[in-house]
Amino acid sequence: MGTPDGVALEIARLRREIERHEHLYYVLDRPTISDAEYDTLIRRLKELEAERPDLVTPDSPSQRVGGQPREGFVRVRHTSPMLSLDNAFNAEELADFDRRVRELTGLPQVEYVAELKLDGLSLALHYSEGRLTRAITRGDGQIGEDVTENARTIRSAPLKLAREIPGGIVEARGEVLLTRAELARINRERAAQEQPQFANPRNAAAGSLRVLDPRITASRRLEFFAYQLVVDGRPGATHHWEALDTLGAAGFKVNPHRQRCADLEAVGAFLRAWEAQRHELPYETDGVVVKVNDFALQQRLGWTAKAPRWAIAFKYAAQQASTTVLDIEVQVGRTGVLTPVAVLAPVPVGGVTVSRATLHNEDEIGRLGLEIGDQVLIERSGDVIPKVVRVEAPGEDRRPFVMPSTCPVCGTQVVREPEEVAWRCVNTDCPARLKESVLHFASRRVMNIDGLGEVLVNQLVDRGLVKSVSDLYGLKKEQLLELDRLAEKSAAKLLRNIDASRAAPLGRVINGLGIPFVGERTAAILAGHFGSLARIASASAAELEQAEEVGPRIAEAIGGFFAEPRNRALVERLRQAGLQLEQEITRPPGGPLEGQTFVLTGTLPTLSREEATAQIEAAGGKVTSAVSKKTSYVVAGADSGSKLAKAEALGVPVIGEDELQGLLGAG
Ligand code: IVH
Repeated sequence: MGTPDGVALEIARLRREIERHEHLYYVLDRPTISDAEYDTLIRRLKELEAERPDLVTPDSPSQRVGGQPREGFVRVRHTSPMLSLDNAFNAEELADFDRRVRELTGLPQVEYVAELKLDGLSLALHYSEGRLTRAITRGDGQIGEDVTENARTIRSAPLKLAREIPGGIVEARGEVLLTRAELARINRERAAQEQPQFANPRNAAAGSLRVLDPRITASRRLEFFAYQLVVDGRPGATHHWEALDTLGAAGFKVNPHRQRCADLEAVGAFLRAWEAQRHELPYETDGVVVKVNDFALQQRLGWTAKAPRWAIAFKYAAQQASTTVLDIEVQVGRTGVLTPVAVLAPVPVGGVTVSRATLHNEDEIGRLGLEIGDQVLIERSGDVIPKVVRVEAPGEDRRPFVMPSTCPVCGTQVVREPEEVAWRCVNTDCPARLKESVLHFASRRVMNIDGLGEVLVNQLVDRGLVKSVSDLYGLKKEQLLELDRLAEKSAAKLLRNIDASRAAPLGRVINGLGIPFVGERTAAILAGHFGSLARIASASAAELEQAEEVGPRIAEAIGGFFAEPRNRALVERLRQAGLQLEQEITRPPGGPLEGQTFVLTGTLPTLSREEATAQIEAAGGKVTSAVSKKTSYVVAGADSGSKLAKAEALGVPVIGEDELQGLLGAG
């Protein structure tokens, strides 16, 4: 390659060419070169960029690969709320919507845009000066999670706009989804690794985008369809239809199945046309979104707290079918909860054969009036595990289901706490519970022991090789080789993975213990706050509650867990196995005063009350009005009154402005 300028020119040319082919392939579904030719272009670009790292820019097509995993997501406020939509479940509710729109606008007829309702999760992509700068999930609508690194790996999300859209922050909001084929591929892969299946494309899309490791996102072919243009927090056009065209011209994938509808009747025709056809689409749709086309009218109609008045989601009826309940089985989960499950005569529902449906608990069976042998209506609402909606006809030889009084797996007496709906097996050694505990311990987000799936765990527990999760660390290759379906190579690999899990950070170990109410997030918080498992185990309820997000219920569960000698023994065995039971105490991300509570009283020498509050909050602290034992400091100025006396009575430290400044500066 000639002069450095020559390299720069070739890199620029390659990028343009790759971008053009990506657009043809991922957005327009009209590739003009083969995958192999595309790969050659990418490889060449990467080679040149390796030669000249100074020329690598974040918007280069080579940079979609997905960087390093992160510890957590940063929460970001949306430029304007990302609201949800109200639903209409039938023609009448849709007509009500149209009537309201016409009444509120005073117009005899309003033009709508009808689009498919895509079944994924919504995402806002921000562009500054034409470059992708940020990707934020919907979150609670006000604040979402920054998933930029992950979103960069979505090929139909342009890193660079193909055409300029004037404005400061140009935002394309839309839906991230997976095709049915891609979902099937991912599930096949997961089955091979003995990982649980994703129940539907929406869960799979969420599980692929909201992961800390962008390489996982990159390995799944997610798609992004844009359906809303927001420029500096406002609509980026005069009409929605135009906004969609603008998005398309800027390089986004915009769903082609959309229509301008002069009135409600035209909307109805669109709905009916797609009701049957939607099953032929490569991705799932659960309805049609109807939006007022004219943004001036949208503005006039406004919003309720939850949803815009200018749009509605028409939902197709959930997919239901009739079948017979052949039996009711009882499953035992990790915490010992017994869940009744209906075993059904297999029946196709929306293209999937269903043979089991959850019945949640004993009360639910009573509520349904269900007995074994009954004919029932079941429903798959795109969502999770199918459920029984109602009994359609009692079976001729129906017989009532009786919750077993002993655990179906280990035979121990089951109990039901007065305030709980669930029956529980109280035997902590119950093989069913043990199996679930080991699976939880080994799962990806916990100790991440790849290769330790259900089939293997069943064998390990049934043969008595694993009586506790700590036994995993004593497994020998010869023992593994005696198991069915485990060859030399996979046994060695499994042992390596078990060994590697010893390095998992403390938060994961805590999560792995399976303390009630202590999941991934709380476990990480506890690890950072206390810095060692021993300290958590010996902490009082009051000390536990000092940790962020830990309230009385969680504190009690933790206390109860470590009060059990068997659990303390488990911790000791894990220590001997070489797991990380210590870590550095982290300062939570909020700032030097995170977790501390202040009460202000009197007049401070230089800071106003508002300024002091703002500075404390900016440093992660909290300001409250009443002094209690939980108050970290009372900041007192001139003419302090009763709060000062109360602080002294409770032994809460009293500081002045100078000391406050000291704390604020101690970042
Ligand atoms: S517009 C304020 N258009 O459905 C209006 N949403 O039930 C914002 N969705 O949160 C949404 N397809 O995730 C719009 N063509 C479409 C859509 C769509 C799917 C999702 C979106 C939204 C949810 C509301």
